[in-house]
Amino acid sequence: MEERIRCKPLRAKITDPTTAAGFIQNGTNLFISGFTAGYPKLIPQELVRRADGGERFKINLFAGASTAASVDGSLAAAGLIQWRRPYMSDRTMRRMINAEQILYKDDHLSALSQQVRAGNWGPVDVTVVEAVAISEKGQLVPTMSVGNTPTYVKAADKIIVEISTDPAELEGIHDIFIPEDPPYRMPIPIYRTADRIGKPFIEMNPDKVVAILLSPETERGAVFRDPDKISRDIAARILDFVEHEIRKNRLPAGLPWQSGVGDVANAVLSGFIGNDFFLNLDIYSEVLQDSVLELIDIGKVRAASGSSLTLSQKARSRFFDELYRYREKVILRPAEISNAPEVIRRLGVIAINTAIEVDIYAQVNSTHVMGSQIMNGIGGSGDFMRNAALSFVVTPSTAKGGVISAIVPMVSHVDHSEHSVGVVVTEHGLVDTRPLTPRQTAEQIINKCAHPDYREQLREYYQRAVRMAGGHEPHLLKEAFYLHQRYLDNGDMRVG
Ligand code: COA
Repeated sequence: MEERIRCKPLRAKITDPTTAAGFIQNGTNLFISGFTAGYPKLIPQELVRRADGGERFKINLFAGASTAASVDGSLAAAGLIQWRRPYMSDRTMRRMINAEQILYKDDHLSALSQQVRAGNWGPVDVTVVEAVAISEKGQLVPTMSVGNTPTYVKAADKIIVEISTDPAELEGIHDIFIPEDPPYRMPIPIYRTADRIGKPFIEMNPDKVVAILLSPETERGAVFRDPDKISRDIAARILDFVEHEIRKNRLPAGLPWQSGVGDVANAVLSGFIGNDFFLNLDIYSEVLQDSVLELIDIGKVRAASGSSLTLSQKARSRFFDELYRYREKVILRPAEISNAPEVIRRLGVIAINTAIEVDIYAQVNSTHVMGSQIMNGIGGSGDFMRNAALSFVVTPSTAKGGVISAIVPMVSHVDHSEHSVGVVVTEHGLVDTRPLTPRQTAEQIINKCAHPDYREQLREYYQRAVRMAGGHEPHLLKEAFYLHQRYLDNGDMRVG
């Protein structure tokens, strides 16, 4: 314990979860660490216990991004959440958001630390952070994610720290830098993926610490599916295309890669494993997953930068056992740095993000099924898609076992416009939209990316739109959603 809490006066703050959670009451704005990993474990459990015991209260919950079923799912099921921001991916919570039982706003992850510092999210009443250690001066060493924690700690009225049993050797992996806010912002001085620009800990005012908990809880590893054939086909097309562009001198070699959430995006990184063309990889991404460790193991990674490391149980054990080796390659940064538009532009990131559906003109919906039901949220996809040197949007050509086409006449919700999209990829084909007019884009997306079962219907729609509406981007507004409507007439649109 002395090794973990090196700031002596703070040792007097060690307490039990019930006492610590007593600082959280009805209406508290609760800001927590966590960005798919690194979320607090004991405080959420204690809040649920209070609710189960009959206490009626609601909190507003703000994390870095998604957490886990034991946080988002349990707190939602216990009826404890009034507001949730900025991103979630939990089934129970999703159902309650879509039923308007939880208020939710989906934000660009790069933007929100600044908004919190400006006070736009209300007072930061209590911040709960999972950490592996507190330094002599009271600085925090986080666990497997950074997310927005530096800002939540800076802006907090009260801080609760959960000291985790994750290895203290995580110290040194983080690179914490909070930029000045406009009008005093200077350039963020990252010129290469491996650049470290901050401190290995989060600055914290020890006077704000109201409780410290020694947590025996470890994180349950993430569950990943092995890439299926569709994901592998999409990944192969992307690697082929980028190799071709580099060989033709249309793209410099060595640009860093970002790979979003979802099976397809993850399969792309796995695709590098057996590939002989791409050797010294830089990964400038948001969430680093198992595939990054595998690439480090085979000596293919020069540097991997993200805001969190979300690993399966097996990969976590390997990572902890050989931290000394992985620590040289992996850098965990605040989300406002991992997702900073300025840095993504400067480095020339190649971005790969997954869509729910893409339309024939390459507008992208990555958040709302059938236009109405939230799936997860935009997360960092907008930060990367809009600012990447080359931006891929990927999706299997159909969903729900083939009964709905993921290539549609018009998306039912727009997250990324055609102006942010470079290349559209499905298992059937790839279209580089950059040199194409909207009409050329439509023809090629229908012919190459759509599932063969849907090509004729899409073609018919497009040709009628050209004849009847004409214009730069022909659409028939009354009919643009006929594929969606047909699915709704036959099926059930609820998600989750
Ligand atoms: N119509 C209806 N439902 C669809 C659909 C479509 N066109 N496309 C997907 N779905 C449904 C799937 O059936 C599945 O539903 P289920 O959970 O009830 O089975 C669900 O959406 C998720 O689809 P799946 O193929 O399992 O998705 P995934 O794990 O590859 O994730 C996204 C896809 C788009 C949901 C996910 O990538 C995402 O949330 N993206 C936005 C955020 C982001 O990109 N962040 C990264 C930035 S760094």
